[in-house]
Amino acid sequence: MTASVVGTSSDGLSVLEKRALAGETYGIPLAVLAELTHRCPLQCPYCSNPLELERSSAELTTEEWKRVLTELADIGVLQIHFSGGEPTARKDLAELVRYANEVGLYTNLITSAVLLDRDKLKALADAGLSHVQISFQGCEPTVADRVAGYKNAHEKKLQVARWTRELDLPLTVNAVMHRQNLHQLPQMIQMAVDLDAHRIEIANVQYYGWALKNRAALMPTVEQMDEAIRIVEEAEQRLKGVLAFDHVIPDYYAARPKRCMGGWGRQFFNISPSGKILPCHAAETITGLTFDSVRGNKSIAWIWQNSDALNRYRGTGWMKEPCRSCAFKEEDFGGCRCQAFALTGDAGNTDPACAFSPRHEEIFKAAASEAAGEAVPFIYRNFAGGTVATGPDEA
Ligand code: FES
Repeated sequence: MTASVVGTSSDGLSVLEKRALAGETYGIPLAVLAELTHRCPLQCPYCSNPLELERSSAELTTEEWKRVLTELADIGVLQIHFSGGEPTARKDLAELVRYANEVGLYTNLITSAVLLDRDKLKALADAGLSHVQISFQGCEPTVADRVAGYKNAHEKKLQVARWTRELDLPLTVNAVMHRQNLHQLPQMIQMAVDLDAHRIEIANVQYYGWALKNRAALMPTVEQMDEAIRIVEEAEQRLKGVLAFDHVIPDYYAARPKRCMGGWGRQFFNISPSGKILPCHAAETITGLTFDSVRGNKSIAWIWQNSDALNRYRGTGWMKEPCRSCAFKEEDFGGCRCQAFALTGDAGNTDPACAFSPRHEEIFKAAASEAAGEAVPFIYRNFAGGTVATGPDEA
């Protein structure tokens, strides 16, 4: 696709109308992730934020976010997920939730919960917050607080989850699983039931950015993964009508790669704290791409349709072999661009999670051998570029 329309912040709708007539078009996603800040009191070693975190001085202002929310609603976005870092670190969160509600957006808060108290949560509910998603690092403090690198995080999360339900807000438990907490999976599912959560998202760590740095500390064995899949499938049957499940299978041990983000620049974008429009949270790990910002003179609709970085790996035209002649190329779009870059140095290569990648076997073996070895200490995520944990009681 070519950049044929010079955008202004008011031309979004006309871009969409013109675009509907074109051959290859991509509708505006129904849901957008707003990363309000990269600040976060937790230090999870698999954080999806980039290794180079954006400073608070670079963050969009309240007024800038309001302009963005208006524009998103105007071009047909229905849901906004307020995320981070930790979105509750922003003092204007309730104001942004209220504003998003006024312009007609469904609002979801994705939070670590540790900065919330009941009054703050009530203020968000009063502002019209529609849904809360709380991340859990384990089912009890010994594991959970160590993974998060934050003392008493687990107890705080449980408390906020209970307040969430008291305030009649729907709750999703987000459980990120890896070799150091997979043994707690049955208890984490039960914890979600006990907390009266509507949904549990069981996400296996995806290895780029911080998680790639920590791969040897996090990678489970094939046996652990098989057991986890069995546990989830059994629980899903048993808890039908009680708890909904989202389960992301780790792709290092799969033969087929994941259709990451539904395909690069096809169904999803997120907005970084400083306003960059990204096709996925890890996209900035790929060097050589320049992402347009909402702070420029282009509308969000224009950026979505015309951004060089978004168009770079859209569809199938960019593919080399073995993807180019693969029967599955319209199904998985070559897998994850960020993982391809992280593991091969070229985002245009087939994701090595795919069995057709010439690097698949080598990478599978490296992961299996890391998983079989001693778990190395975490490198905690922080603005200093990471700090090595010194012991099990670090948190
Ligand atoms: Fe970026 Fe998969 S996380 S394409």
